[in-house]
Amino acid sequence: MKMKNNENPKRYLVTAALPYANGPLHIGHIAGCYLPADIYVRFLRLAGKDVKFICGSDEHGMAITMRAKKEDTTPKAIVDKYDKLMKDAFAEFGITFDIYSRTSNALHHKTAQEFFLHLYNKGVFTEKETEQYYDEKAKQFLADRYIKGTCPKCGYNEAYGDQCEKCGSSLNPTDLINPISTLTGNSPTLRKTKNWYLPLGEYQRSLGDYIKSKKDSWKANVYGQCISWLNDGLQERAMTRDLDWGVKVPLKEAEGKVLYVWFDAPIGYISATKELLPNDWDVYWKSEDTVLIHFIGKDNIVFHCLIFPAMLMAHEQYILPTNVPANEFLNLEGRKISTSKNWAVWLHEYLEDFPNKQDELRYVLTSIAPETSDSEFTWKDFQSKVNNELVAILGNFINRVTTLINKYYEGYVPEINRKDNPELIDEISRAYQKSREFTLNYNFRQGLSSIMDLARFGNRFITAQEPWKRIKTEPESVKQILVDCLIISAHLGKLLIPYLPHSSDRIFSMLNLNPEDINERESIIPFGKQHKILEPSLLFEKIEDAEIEKQRLKLMNSSEKESNSGSINTIIPEVSFNDFEKMDLRTAVITAAEKVPKTDKLLKLSIDLGYEQRTIVSGIAEHYTPEEAIGQTVLIIANLAPRTIKGIESKGMILMAEENGKLSFMTTHKPFKGGAVVK
Ligand code: 2FM
Ligand code: ZN
Repeated sequence: MKMKNNENPKRYLVTAALPYANGPLHIGHIAGCYLPADIYVRFLRLAGKDVKFICGSDEHGMAITMRAKKEDTTPKAIVDKYDKLMKDAFAEFGITFDIYSRTSNALHHKTAQEFFLHLYNKGVFTEKETEQYYDEKAKQFLADRYIKGTCPKCGYNEAYGDQCEKCGSSLNPTDLINPISTLTGNSPTLRKTKNWYLPLGEYQRSLGDYIKSKKDSWKANVYGQCISWLNDGLQERAMTRDLDWGVKVPLKEAEGKVLYVWFDAPIGYISATKELLPNDWDVYWKSEDTVLIHFIGKDNIVFHCLIFPAMLMAHEQYILPTNVPANEFLNLEGRKISTSKNWAVWLHEYLEDFPNKQDELRYVLTSIAPETSDSEFTWKDFQSKVNNELVAILGNFINRVTTLINKYYEGYVPEINRKDNPELIDEISRAYQKSREFTLNYNFRQGLSSIMDLARFGNRFITAQEPWKRIKTEPESVKQILVDCLIISAHLGKLLIPYLPHSSDRIFSMLNLNPEDINERESIIPFGKQHKILEPSLLFEKIEDAEIEKQRLKLMNSSEKESNSGSINTIIPEVSFNDFEKMDLRTAVITAAEKVPKTDKLLKLSIDLGYEQRTIVSGIAEHYTPEEAIGQTVLIIANLAPRTIKGIESKGMILMAEENGKLSFMTTHKPFKGGAVVK
């Protein structure tokens, strides 16, 4: 097993999570994973490192088959469509993978099967027979998401086999009351089936040692999540599934089964490397002097930090991930981004609506990247960052410099006996040093901001020097000032290569310079008649209010359309008055509220019913802060059977109205005490 942290790597292998080919990419994907990965890789390349950047479409799993069902087509048609859409959008946006592959490739199927067989032959898996739901009409076993029924915890009758979306409980299909196959509407039957499990418990210790060795080098959010999984105790997990879409299990006795998507997907990184480097791929995966880094979103942490490392340990020939710098989530205009609710800014649509403005989005998404906690994108903020930072600081500085050199010297760089300006040298080397340190520590927000600080310095410098006032009286000093400004501009161009590559290209062509000639220590800026810069042109343009309004409307409209075709129109069959009367509906006053630890959605509420105090756990944390909830008079179902959620006994349920995914308390028109009967 190879676990040593590598201080002086010979090469880097950087992967970005293989996105499911079941829908287009949105800004949450980009900010969470692909943009930081691209910045990091561009930075390493610029530093002359040997680095390979791997990605591709994840084309298996329920995400794909469910989308095919929704669009009434085949999984193959779905993956072909979205693989192309994503690949094109990545390229257009300037994400520079060395390879963007697909898990449907034959090479991937072969690689994943060989990996499985290697573990199988070593006796790594445990074989287990379990009872799973089977749809006799569709003649297939049902994945958890294909079974619906009544939630045993809250009575919601549209709960899925793995989770009730109403109360948030995680379920097994056999927990559901009156299970129904969503494929045919039939009641499924239980059938015995054999599957192969990875006994993660057996790796508890080695994984624990591995994770603990990363305490100081991994991001706190990633490390913390791993420790919490480890503390809960690792459970075995089935690595094969009774499905027909996926990589076939390479065993005679496993006909009709495929590899679990989370078994084959990370192996996708290996097969893509093989495709890229048929002869050398294994140096990148099997030698100690490679640094392996997985960029992912936080929902993928357990798979990359525990399950995949366990697979690699079990195999015994592979290195383990050196770092997994996962980001948190990006929200959009106050709500969670949701593909199914169409609440998203789609990358391919942004690229159509804002042609040649890739760097504006790169800039904004980097400066709000959810590096340590969830963050938020709003169109207003996008506009303000573009107008007040890119246009007013960076663009303005470059524009002032190029305009003045054109105006005073017809674009020729003045020939002077240049004296080094220590303040300037300090500022420039600070920008290099800080951006390097932040970038290598996955702190891209600050990396970018330290480069912007150099542009801020440039503006202060030129404003303080006032070349426009001194041009008549001190022409020699003005030459010196403008050459200094030109040097700052060239270094800005160089520093921005990883972050804003399109703008960096434009700066270099405006200055008529070659990026290779600009270095942290020594820069070659030709002068005199040898070197003429271009006429000034704007590096960035202001984004107008009307454009922002258009985008906001587009978001609201498309999201409404989607939700109208969904739950709002779902008719629930009628109930008798008797049934209605069985419910004890009451007013209640929320007297205390706090977030349930380690959850995003749950609030623990203390409520006053007049005749008693109670605790209710409610899935409203994304809609109300504890402070907002306290003091509200709400309506509750008081006689709902108690249930335990995250170890807390919850007695009753708060009634909420839902519109466009937003939840609102139901309250009384006049002030009311807790405990009044609602009828
Ligand atoms: O969450 C996702 O989109 C997964 N398709 C990521 C897979 S990453 C890797 F394992 F391939
Ligand atoms: Zn439920």
